[in-house]
Amino acid sequence: MAEIFENPPQIDSNYEPLGAAELVDHDGGSLRLKAGSTIVEVSALAPDLFRVGAFPDGSTPGYDSEAIAKQEWGTVEVSMERSDKEITLSTSAATAHVSLDPLRVSFADASGRSLAADDEEFGMGFSRRPDADVFTQPLGPSPRLYKRREEGERYFGCGERTSGLEKTGSHQIFWNVDPPLGHTASFNNLYTSIPFVFSMTKGRAHGLLFDDPGRIEFDLALEDEDRSYYGAEGGNLVYYVFCGPTPGDVLDRYTELTGRTPMPPLWSLGNQQCRYSYMDEDEVREVARNFRERDIPCDVIHLDIHYMDGYRVFTWNEERFPEPEKLMSELREQGFRVVTIVDPGVKVDENYPVYTEGHERDLFCKTGVGEEYHNAVWPGICAFPDFTNAETREWWGANHSALLDVGVAGIWCDMNEPSLFIPRQSTMPGDVVHPGDDDPKFHAQIHNAYGSLMARAARAGLLKLRPGERPFVITRAGYAGLQRHAMQWTGDNSSWWEHLWMSMPQLQNLGLSGVAWAGVDIGGFGGDANAELLARWAEFGAFQPFCRNHTAIGTRRQEPWAFGEPCESVYRKMMKLRQRLLPYLYSLFEECHRTGAPILRPLLFEYPEDETTYTADDEFLLGDALLVAPITRSGIEHRHVYLPRGCWFHYWTGERFDGPAHVLAHAPLGQPPLYVKANTAVPMAPDMAHTGEGTWDPLTLLLYPTAGADESVLYEDAGDGFDYEDGEYARRTVSCEEAAGSVTVRLSERLGSFVPQRQELRLELRGFGSAPESVEVNGEGADSSYDEETGTVIVSLGETESVITVEIVR
Ligand code: GLC
Repeated sequence: MAEIFENPPQIDSNYEPLGAAELVDHDGGSLRLKAGSTIVEVSALAPDLFRVGAFPDGSTPGYDSEAIAKQEWGTVEVSMERSDKEITLSTSAATAHVSLDPLRVSFADASGRSLAADDEEFGMGFSRRPDADVFTQPLGPSPRLYKRREEGERYFGCGERTSGLEKTGSHQIFWNVDPPLGHTASFNNLYTSIPFVFSMTKGRAHGLLFDDPGRIEFDLALEDEDRSYYGAEGGNLVYYVFCGPTPGDVLDRYTELTGRTPMPPLWSLGNQQCRYSYMDEDEVREVARNFRERDIPCDVIHLDIHYMDGYRVFTWNEERFPEPEKLMSELREQGFRVVTIVDPGVKVDENYPVYTEGHERDLFCKTGVGEEYHNAVWPGICAFPDFTNAETREWWGANHSALLDVGVAGIWCDMNEPSLFIPRQSTMPGDVVHPGDDDPKFHAQIHNAYGSLMARAARAGLLKLRPGERPFVITRAGYAGLQRHAMQWTGDNSSWWEHLWMSMPQLQNLGLSGVAWAGVDIGGFGGDANAELLARWAEFGAFQPFCRNHTAIGTRRQEPWAFGEPCESVYRKMMKLRQRLLPYLYSLFEECHRTGAPILRPLLFEYPEDETTYTADDEFLLGDALLVAPITRSGIEHRHVYLPRGCWFHYWTGERFDGPAHVLAHAPLGQPPLYVKANTAVPMAPDMAHTGEGTWDPLTLLLYPTAGADESVLYEDAGDGFDYEDGEYARRTVSCEEAAGSVTVRLSERLGSFVPQRQELRLELRGFGSAPESVEVNGEGADSSYDEETGTVIVSLGETESVITVEIVR
């Protein structure tokens, strides 16, 4: 209870801010100062990115961290100015101001806007107990950082928080846990910890990453509305400031530093199905058969813990799954892939080679007196791999051959907070030792990184075992930067309307924290779903970057057909829509991979100047062209939707709205409020049962033309493998402009060497009250038709790599 409801005070009596500092060294983009015994370094890593490190024992600065993907940054052009009182480091895009007595650091963007300025009174420093020694403060002095809140500054991000989008006036805890089933929005820390605060100040964005994988806490203008606070238990103080000024700039730089989301295999964007557990081969076959017979698209079936022999990881249960290889190849023929769960706990069993090998090679975590650390999880008493050790990660990765060799396609890393059963749903005690690579650490020092390190081992293992294929790895736990190893699914939600609602801010918060590839269990995991809840959840879930239905052991069946009609038809319709939207979704994944832009994104990402969007957490954008506002209460068919500036078309009725506007949407079952931005092409595939069924032929570009202009990007490649890195992709920009009743759609030249295998590209232009006067493609008569009932003009185009211009006169 205390953890949830009591906020510790920001300032404790042992805190000492750093005082006067002197410059001891500088080179190019970096200053090194000394304040008392503390070494402080301020560095410009990129024009809009600064790093600050404070090392209380006077040691040489070092920034190794699981969060950080890019340690080496090229030279940044920096000019330095120096007076007795202050040193400034200026790049082309931002400035760091370092005042020397007392030492305070602040920043400004190119426009001179002040951001992430140290609080004048408290600055940064360390809290040391008066009797501090290795027993009273085993992790060393506790770093603390106080920043001024700028006028109008509002806080967002902070990872997988469920309690709304905005974080202003909140206390944030970063400590990975497996929360009890039925967690609510008042639970702060969940499975992953991403200590990244995304700030918006009157339309301009900046970010702050406080890098420490131990327990950390933030106070974002809760105790004092003019100040934010960032504190860890022990160690050095390291933080990064991203100066923006657009939300896209912040996430671009943040994901350059912490790593980008890899390109997914296309099949992993298809619909997925799971249950804890499909108990045997026959049950799996039955589920697969139902999907195909009922014509509900599905690409993946997951196997939960019962496929294993007594929950021993990297084994098969010979009674339940006697012929996994045969099962997998049968499923593969029907277009299904199989993903298996893997937990970190390795059963202590002298007759189990995974354990005996790990034990003999000394790859497990230790107690303080050097014994193997044991606790209970599903298999009973287990040992836990020390994933901080590169040798352990390599060994762990190689063990996945037991699954991949029989045809498993992807790996689901679970329980990796780690979650332990003694006491129930606890985690490792802080004094457990990770011997590491000759650099032992207490668990308390690396706790939040444990899940990321497990996912990293899995991804590296998969890459080694199948070098030509893009790994599909799911993780439940992790730390900042986890997005470069795995996608995140958000653990054990419940079959409650509240949890359906909470999914929206949760995924938007993750997207603003670099974890764009994410999803919640459709239908809810704990408890029993019902027909209406499952149907509405599918209406939301179809738009998630990761789309999987999952439920706990002992709950009601939750497959799309479990509740009969009308739920089944709604589910089918939504999954068919998702399947059709895959070219759009895939293009968004590529944008995310290149720039860090969230896939499922808050409105504020696109409309930062519009402060109404800052609290719009019950609706979201998928890319910039689709706005989704799911129904999240029972018995409701209407809801309020905020449409930001621009012109929006209701997907199901074609009705036009001019934003900014607050509208009341009518959303009967099967028609979740979905709006398409005018002039923005949404590429769509034909109907398919799974992603491998055929090529995207014809590929449809759905457009609602209206006065004005906009554009979008279509990205395609082989859908797997790494040839795209050598230019084997196809990218084209689609622009649409309407002026004086004349609509011009222009497909740019096709860039890249990938040649889409199709005969037909077609434009589907909606919102035509009557047949167009003329339609021309590249100045000549075109193959087009008009459907009076739907007001749709279809223009058929061949696939060519050159520019295509289509002129339609209304
Ligand atoms: C955890 C997972 C859940 C899984 C269960 C059994 O609770 O979060 O998804 O089904 O373990 O493996």
